[in-house]
Amino acid sequence: MIVKQNFSESKKQLCVIGLGYIGLPTAVVFAQNGWQVKGVDVSDRTIEYVSRGELPFVEKGLKGALKTVVDAGMLTVQKDTPKADVYIVSVPTPFKDTQTHAPDLSYIEAATKGIIPQLSGDELVVLESTSPPGTTRFMADLVMSARPDLSLDGSDNRPIVHFAHAPERVLPGQIMVEMTENDRIVGGLTPEATEKAREIYATFCQGAILTTDAKTAELAKLTENSFRDVNIAFANELSLICDQLDINVWELIKLANRHPRVNILQPGPGVGGHCIAVDPWFIVASDPDNSNLIRTAREVNDSKPDFVLEKVFRTLTSQNQDRVTVLGLAFKPNIDDLRESPAMRITERLAASPAVREVIVAEPNINELPEVLAKTGKVRLAPIREAISESEVVVQLVDHAQFKGLTLADLSGKTFINTRGSGFVA
Ligand SMILES: NC(=O)c1ccc[n+]([C@@H]2O[C@H](COP(=O)([O-])OP(=O)(O)OC[C@H]3O[C@@H](n4cnc5c(N)ncnc54)[C@H](O)[C@@H]3O)[C@@H](O)[C@H]2O)c1
Repeated sequence: MIVKQNFSESKKQLCVIGLGYIGLPTAVVFAQNGWQVKGVDVSDRTIEYVSRGELPFVEKGLKGALKTVVDAGMLTVQKDTPKADVYIVSVPTPFKDTQTHAPDLSYIEAATKGIIPQLSGDELVVLESTSPPGTTRFMADLVMSARPDLSLDGSDNRPIVHFAHAPERVLPGQIMVEMTENDRIVGGLTPEATEKAREIYATFCQGAILTTDAKTAELAKLTENSFRDVNIAFANELSLICDQLDINVWELIKLANRHPRVNILQPGPGVGGHCIAVDPWFIVASDPDNSNLIRTAREVNDSKPDFVLEKVFRTLTSQNQDRVTVLGLAFKPNIDDLRESPAMRITERLAASPAVREVIVAEPNINELPEVLAKTGKVRLAPIREAISESEVVVQLVDHAQFKGLTLADLSGKTFINTRGSGFVA
């Protein structure tokens, strides 16, 4: 369905820079809502796929919508940044390195440099990438130092370019629903920029659009993921204490959560993915002196795989075993995404150990092992029950729906190391 946009008739060229998990659905949703969208990406593969109306990755509900807007000519793609009225930047914001965890803003810098020559005044530039506080200002400073003929506020009668941040909080797998239904925060460098950003998101956003300034919007996104990370770290720390005291941590948390104002999240083998395990570090990088709790939570969650590994090795040694089965590789249940997954980290370390002859993996959401595991020659993918039957030691790392069908009988006689608290039926 393509409907007419409400934004001022003269403003309809919108350019999305970075057509990944966030940028591509964003481009499609704007195109569905009447914008003439130009998508920009540095990847030849992405340009080839999208120009044919094909999805370069899996996301429920996006395939048909993409084809419709491409066929209707509402979304076109190219490698160079064109002239547009609105620019949306959704490029990656990884770490510079995994030691310091400092944010790498080079992708944002490159995208901004592509926009600079196209500006003539009255454009809106929206940063959607998850970024440390001050990044929208950093983009604006890059533009203003290259283009002294422009301004942020119309001073000296110079044409204005507006800048805003509009963080994305969608859940992969449900992006097409959440992108329109979630509440959205928008924050500009000026009140006028905030209002312009609010206006463009109002063309499709059915949730509330909450307005603030750019820096608060940037920190809000990081805060959401840090809140979850700190809460999970609390649960993970409890799991270590309970292990020491021989108490069932899941029963403990269930009981404590019956308090009307307590809501502890669940422990696990660590925290993975490219949001919760990354974003808190951007707060730490912004103010290292005052972010002790946030840093410690990251460290607690990052050290959990070591605790699981130690337990597995201890069990293998005590039982004189050199073969182990792991259930799940993904970074969370019911997806096939293995990026930054603690289950992957644990499986890699098991395979690398001379004490382990074979690791049998049950991961129902993939058809072949990732290269890093396949090349060890020690890891094998197998159906769930076959994988369990072949080892004496079974470690559950992910609670995929497919594992919920297991019964106590399936695990009878095995040593079961349960990092997810799944209660199997008798
Ligand atoms: N994936 C998520 O669930 C999610 C959720 C919320 C926020 N975010 C944030 O959104 C941003 C984008 O994440 P993503 O998951 O879409 O990343 P992604 O890696 O899927 O996509 C990024 C795209 O940008 C392209 N790109 C890189 N540099 C470019 C440049 N200079 N010009 C044009 N294109 C360029 C890449 O080729 C790629 O296609 C990140 O800051 C991320 O933290 C992601």
